[in-house]
Amino acid sequence: MNKPTVLSGIRPTGYLHLGNYFGAVCNFVRMQDDFNCFFFIADIHSLTTHPTPESLQTGVKQVLAEYIACGIDPEKATIFIQSDVPEVTELYTILNMNAYLGELERTTSFKEKARQQPDNLNVGLLTYPVLMAADIIIHKANFVPVGKDQEQHLEMARKFAVRFNSMYKKEVFPIPKPYTFNGKDMIKIPGLDGSGKMGKSEGNAINLYDDPKEIRKKVMRAVTDSGPTEMNQEKPETICNLYTLMEAVSKPEVVAHFNELYNKCEIRYGDMKKQLADDIISFTEPIRNRIIEILKDNEYLSKVAKLGAEKARASASKTLREVKEVVGFKKLF
Ligand code: TYM
Repeated sequence: MNKPTVLSGIRPTGYLHLGNYFGAVCNFVRMQDDFNCFFFIADIHSLTTHPTPESLQTGVKQVLAEYIACGIDPEKATIFIQSDVPEVTELYTILNMNAYLGELERTTSFKEKARQQPDNLNVGLLTYPVLMAADIIIHKANFVPVGKDQEQHLEMARKFAVRFNSMYKKEVFPIPKPYTFNGKDMIKIPGLDGSGKMGKSEGNAINLYDDPKEIRKKVMRAVTDSGPTEMNQEKPETICNLYTLMEAVSKPEVVAHFNELYNKCEIRYGDMKKQLADDIISFTEPIRNRIIEILKDNEYLSKVAKLGAEKARASASKTLREVKEVVGFKKLF
């Protein structure tokens, strides 16, 4: 029996952080044995931020090494670079004809960018969800493991797939579903600066590649409050954030211990942060060491990217041929 197909991607705009890891990459690793997996580096998407050619190349190489260091096996999963598969931009063009200005303008991420960077509100940002849909449906993905922040984009990909199928009265694309481990809610790893989400552009990220000193510095700076004043008091958001991170990296008994201290009003945030920093370091250090090793081997990285591009192009061009036939681009002459 054919394995269901899974696809997901990450923009190469820096280092992978704990949000990327727990929101997406850990699922990639878990899924690679049982699914037909495509994991890619979204370098075309990252052009919306106007990186220099040098930083783009460095970013792509870094994410490639980080994927492998996290445990994605290029022999099992197809790891590829988005721009190595030009078929996706052709599908993107076709899908753009059935994507409407109003719905794109209403996308939360686009509205946020309009507020944050009115001087660089490029059309790539507007049609970002269309390219993301093309990424997903060109491989006929059934599942997409992403964090909570990508929920709306994925919903739009589903909408574009349904629209295409119904417009041409043919089930060309399966409707992709979000994938969450154990069917739980999509994950959101918070930042430690009191803001909602850990992110590259938020400047509050703890990267897998950070050295222990850097991690300790970042964790010790985390925003807290003056502590609970009543037994079993509900935690405010900033404190919940600290606990959410701890739940991701620490043993359950450690989390239970600090929960108990909080409930008894005996919590000392300094101690908790020290423990959290230690646990993050134990978690990231082996990954960081592998990243350093893998980055030294250019030949290996280039072999992985070439193999991935071949496999991804074979899959993408098959779908694109079908799409062109369906829309009416038949070879008449
Ligand atoms: P990007 O590069 O912003 O993030 C990559 C993945 O990491 C997840 N993530 C988080 N999850 C939980 N908590 C966080 N704080 C956190 N921060 C990031 C994201 O949800 C994502 O899964 N548009 C995508 C890249 C993309 C893509 C695709 C993904 C392009 N085409 C097709 C899936 C399928 C993005 O910018 O992700």
